[in-house]
Amino acid sequence: MSLDVLVKDGVLPDGRQADIAIQGDRIVDVAPGISAEAGTVVDAGGCLVSPPFVDPHFHMDATLSYGTPRINASGTLLEGIALWGELKEILTHEAVVERALAYCDWAVSMGLLAIRTHVDTCDDRLLGVEALIEVRERVKDYIDLQLVAFPQDGFYRDPTARANTIRALDMGVDVVGGIPHFERTMADGRRSVTELCEIAADRGLPVDLHCDETDDPESRHIEQLAYETQRLGLQGRVAGSHLTSMHSMDNYYVSKLLPLIAEAEVSVIPNPLINIVIQGRHDTYPKRRGLTRVPEMRAHGIRVGWGQDCVLDPWYSLGTADMLDVAFMGLHVAQMTSPEDMAHCFRMVTEENAAIIGLKDYGLHKGAVASLVVLDAGNPIEALRLRADRRAVIAKGKVVAQRATVPTALSLPGRPASVDRRVR
Ligand code: FE2
Repeated sequence: MSLDVLVKDGVLPDGRQADIAIQGDRIVDVAPGISAEAGTVVDAGGCLVSPPFVDPHFHMDATLSYGTPRINASGTLLEGIALWGELKEILTHEAVVERALAYCDWAVSMGLLAIRTHVDTCDDRLLGVEALIEVRERVKDYIDLQLVAFPQDGFYRDPTARANTIRALDMGVDVVGGIPHFERTMADGRRSVTELCEIAADRGLPVDLHCDETDDPESRHIEQLAYETQRLGLQGRVAGSHLTSMHSMDNYYVSKLLPLIAEAEVSVIPNPLINIVIQGRHDTYPKRRGLTRVPEMRAHGIRVGWGQDCVLDPWYSLGTADMLDVAFMGLHVAQMTSPEDMAHCFRMVTEENAAIIGLKDYGLHKGAVASLVVLDAGNPIEALRLRADRRAVIAKGKVVAQRATVPTALSLPGRPASVDRRVR
């Protein structure tokens, strides 16, 4: 049999050595020493071959806009929202598409091949929605892009957000979003969670709410989200993004809350790069970190993935589309430093994120979609330590990025001599 692509001499995240045979857009074999003709051979050189990175939380309508029309001087969430409001006034369809496509190129170069992006629905023109629907179509051969209808200024608080959010879903946006902590009152926030979950249930859609992205320990909309998920039978289809208020909650209440989230099978998406710079801004010292309680959630069987949230936009002035940066920050802030925890942090930006956004046929097994990344590292922990270079990226059976390598002295002793490394 002649293959389209053969990836030779790779090491899988679980440590197995394997070649990967690709025909069309599917993996047809994963085994050591595959000998077959192939149109393209990618030599992994003894390096880690992973399923692609997945980002379950992003804002592609705002990305790469840093400094337009000004920067966020206070660094707070609220100034970021106000600044985004100024930017929205001057957006054009073409500019949103151009920035989004540029970001998708960055993502490909980093082996990031599936992204769930929120898109603001508080705009009567729904300019961002139209632009990102176009981008979703234009990148579909190499990136799986999911869109979340996101009423940034409040589902009830903004006068036309409710109607526009429903209109965006009618246009083909994939997921129901919301922002209960930004509504006028806690009661409105709770009510928005209920209605948004009912909309999702009626339409058979997933839910992903910005939920309790605040340092206020009284912000408890996650409780309502877990309740509505169970009441409406949405188990496994609902995610709560951020949940930063849980950082500041009373331990007794959290001990009641975590089993409720687990029971409802609500997934959680903290965004460590953003949480660590935006939360705690009103504190003196000690200054709260704001990241939600990731190890504790894991211990309760709650699925948690790391999200990126922002790159060069009104909320965050850095970022590179590298999910290894995201996991690296999360690992540090959550103090997940045991070997098992570090390896899990890598799984969070690959397998766990893929499960959270419901990616089909994801992974490195026979029959899976032939998307993968070859990393200049020997194993997942080393990939995190080095924020390893991507040697090659394959998307749906096509080699979409490749990088030359040079030797480096950063590897641990005992690594195979055949492994070329590139100094970062
Ligand atoms: Fe967000």
